[in-house]
Amino acid sequence: MTTFTLSIFLLLIFLFRSTNAAVFTILNNCPYTVWVGAVPGGGQQLNSGQTWALSVPSSTVGRIWPRTNCNFDGSGRGKCQTGDCNGLLRCQNYGTPPNTLAEYALNQYNNLDFFDMSLADGFNVPMEFKPSSSGGCTRGILCKSDINGQCPNELRAPGGCNNPCAVFKTNEYCCVSGGNCSPTDFSRFFKTRCPDAYSYPKDDQTSTFTCPGGTNYSVVLCP
Ligand SMILES: *[C@@H]1O[C@H](CO)[C@@H](O)[C@H](O)[C@H]1NC(C)=O
Repeated sequence: MTTFTLSIFLLLIFLFRSTNAAVFTILNNCPYTVWVGAVPGGGQQLNSGQTWALSVPSSTVGRIWPRTNCNFDGSGRGKCQTGDCNGLLRCQNYGTPPNTLAEYALNQYNNLDFFDMSLADGFNVPMEFKPSSSGGCTRGILCKSDINGQCPNELRAPGGCNNPCAVFKTNEYCCVSGGNCSPTDFSRFFKTRCPDAYSYPKDDQTSTFTCPGGTNYSVVLCP
């Protein structure tokens, strides 16, 4: 490869990266510390009022979620009460429910970003997930009801509120083997409190949102 073609190649890589990466600005507005988990991205401790600007490449499919009551040693090993990812501060795998969840898939069909909030892994921390760029895309997802406080007894968990799938592990709640999977009293508990979030796996109609690729996003914990 000549120096010239190499330079062009590097320039293209630079342009591609700088125009297509999306930034997720994650703010901990809670009065308590939250350890954010992100795949990809790892994780970070956010004291009350702190933010983390997480940049991900184009076409990334990923998720961001809050973890609570964590203890980590100097090497980033330990445990969280909710959302724990194999005991690591910098997550490599998804969290252990219950945890509120922001999911996204960037630059998909028609270069659209798809994003949603899911309570299919339960709930731990109130959250808002919204586009933050100053473009035309403004519709975000807000879930700030007192789900932990009102959680049905069967679903209560230390630090959060479980989705019934995690507790009962039946097809009625988990919708694993396709077929007819409908809302239940438990899924309606979540849906009435957070109408824009997934309350059970087949909830797509009212729970998936899109923005043009290239949009940046804001995640607020305790909005
Ligand atoms: C997204 O954020 C980055 C970093 O702050 C910025 O350079 C870029 O212009 C933003 N994109 C949009 C569409 O606002």
